[in-house]
Amino acid sequence: MTRKKIIAGNWKMNNLKEDVVAFFEELGDFASNFDDREVIIAPSIPYVLLASEKKGKAVKLGVQDIYPEKKGAFTGQVGSEMVKDLSAEFVIIGHSERRHVMNESLEMIRKKVTFAQEEGFKIIYCVGETLSQRQKNELFAVIEKQLSDAFDNNLNISDEDLIIAYEPVWAIGTGVVASKDEAEEMHKFIRNYMKEHYNKENVRILYGGSVKPANVKELLSMPNIDGALVGGASLKADSFKKLIAWDK
Ligand code: PGA
Repeated sequence: MTRKKIIAGNWKMNNLKEDVVAFFEELGDFASNFDDREVIIAPSIPYVLLASEKKGKAVKLGVQDIYPEKKGAFTGQVGSEMVKDLSAEFVIIGHSERRHVMNESLEMIRKKVTFAQEEGFKIIYCVGETLSQRQKNELFAVIEKQLSDAFDNNLNISDEDLIIAYEPVWAIGTGVVASKDEAEEMHKFIRNYMKEHYNKENVRILYGGSVKPANVKELLSMPNIDGALVGGASLKADSFKKLIAWDK
């Protein structure tokens, strides 16, 4: 199975109406020139509808989070009926900002992973170690735990629909990017782990953390790096176009 590369933009809490319109106007049909890769944008919830109206056919939509219920009395949350109504196919779960800033519990993350599978979403599950965990050489144990906590006895999804994003916390939004060898080492570890424990050798594994046009090519040229999950450098169309065309 060939693993189609993925370029995914996580806009976080950025880009207002006029930015969303300008982004998609400038992007136009650019992504449709590259049918050997998937292009995904995850705007924040209030702008997903606008993005779905403005985007070209080749861009797929994701959401940055989901509440693990279909609908109901859950003030402030967005559940699966709404996410489907907005035509978002991908759901990001376990992003480090949700783990560390919003203090999302492992139990909640696991619930979301289960729920997103039951509801038929494609999942982008994020893992990553902090700087001190790396310095104490705990990184492989940390990543292993983040994978097993989310997936043990809890995986019922095709390889194609499960995407793992390795995002070292120390590299997110800091301008400090993991070297291609540091990233590849971890991606290889994740691939072996997914193969041994879940027979899922062909999941796509994205790198995230300060990816930009200047460093995307060397990262995505590594054998186990199947794409990038990009924050800051995905906000503007000129930069995002360069990421989509990473090997040109
Ligand atoms: P960054 O964010 O590209 O701004 O470092 C990546 C992410 O958090 O997904």
